[in-house]
Amino acid sequence: MEQTYVMIKPDGVQRGLIGEIILRIERKGLKVAAMRMSVMDKNSAKEHYKEHSERPFFHSLIEYVTSGPSVSMVIEGKNSIALMRSINGATNPVNALPGTIRGDLAVETGRNIVHASDSSEAAKREISIHFKDTEVTGYKKIDEAWLYE
Ligand code: RTP
Ligand code: MG
Repeated sequence: MEQTYVMIKPDGVQRGLIGEIILRIERKGLKVAAMRMSVMDKNSAKEHYKEHSERPFFHSLIEYVTSGPSVSMVIEGKNSIALMRSINGATNPVNALPGTIRGDLAVETGRNIVHASDSSEAAKREISIHFKDTEVTGYKKIDEAWLYE
């Protein structure tokens, strides 16, 4: 089953939104395959966001995502990469539709609460930055027979 990397960024943790965000993910029918709360170290954050290393916001982005505890997850399910991008909503909360996490709960790009991998390659790369293979569980959930045709 497809896996994606999702992070509740430090602003999401500070604003007491861990439960709200995980509720939306689980309610959709996606499965939490791995989860950890920690302060992301700077090297992991730089590796994670290396595609943006030349952008003017890179330094502040690294400071932001390493500024406090965040929640790292591997989320699993059919089409989980595309589904998580649509659950999160557009990068800039101004453009994020109501009903999405960013559309409902955030106001600006630099504090947009959540991250999700944007492609299959990115998902594999990001999961391997943040989790060891043995930390990602492979269990089957009882609702799968009713989620998938
Ligand atoms: P993410 O990687 O965090 O899931 O967000 P995304 O794919 O929707 O957006 P991306 O273009 O990958 O940007 C990564 C994160 O960098 C911050 N950002 N700041 N100030 C700015 O112009 C700006 N642009 C991007 C945001 O935190 C964004 O989520
Ligand atoms: Mg991105």
